[in-house]
Amino acid sequence: MAIFLDTGKVDEIKKYHDYGIIRGVTTNPSILIKEGLGTNLQELKKKFIEIADLINPLPLSLEVTSNETSEMFEQAELFAGWADNINVKITIHGPNGELNNLKVINQLENKKNIRVNVTAMMSAQQCYLAAQAGATYVSIFGGRINNMGYDSNKEIYILRNLLDKFNLNSKIIVGSTREIINITQWLNAGAHIVTCHPNFLEGMLIHPYTKETVQMFLNDGNKIKK
Ligand code: E4P
Repeated sequence: MAIFLDTGKVDEIKKYHDYGIIRGVTTNPSILIKEGLGTNLQELKKKFIEIADLINPLPLSLEVTSNETSEMFEQAELFAGWADNINVKITIHGPNGELNNLKVINQLENKKNIRVNVTAMMSAQQCYLAAQAGATYVSIFGGRINNMGYDSNKEIYILRNLLDKFNLNSKIIVGSTREIINITQWLNAGAHIVTCHPNFLEGMLIHPYTKETVQMFLNDGNKIKK
């Protein structure tokens, strides 16, 4: 079980990687835009290679920016060629339910030896089929599932049982983290990995009562003559 960081910010990745508490990094085009990381692919390429080097051999997920079959193949091969620990995110289908994505996923994994993270999934059913197509990672969006009025924990539990029962090797990544408690709940429900923004890790680690206790130790420690 592991935590990935859902960000493209090198400083944040370095900080938590140095602490030894992350096992990979995920990004998507919306995160890159929101974090102001630029829109020039050559500049982004430098940043991605820097991140991949920094965390190697841990995995980095980069998402294709097109839903056109030949462009998905082209971008997947381009991104995967930048570093051996880069895997490629492909959405389960297009904005209008186009299913050509599955052919791309299947061929990248089974013919082109490129690791795929199938993303933007909202149900165990979608993830199960992505796993059948050969996905290395299946990304289910827990926060968005909850926001639609469904129970993300239940979907994760069902999905993990299916993967285990049918010996499918895909790893479940739960993303779309909204609350700190999501992380341990989703890992407990069966996720192999939860990906979250760096702020969530600070929230998990720092506790007001720990602060008070540490201050007590330091105050009393100062009374001990050296
Ligand atoms: C996961 O891989 C996604 O990048 C991400 O967690 C999506 O989250 P959102 O619902 O905040 O967009």
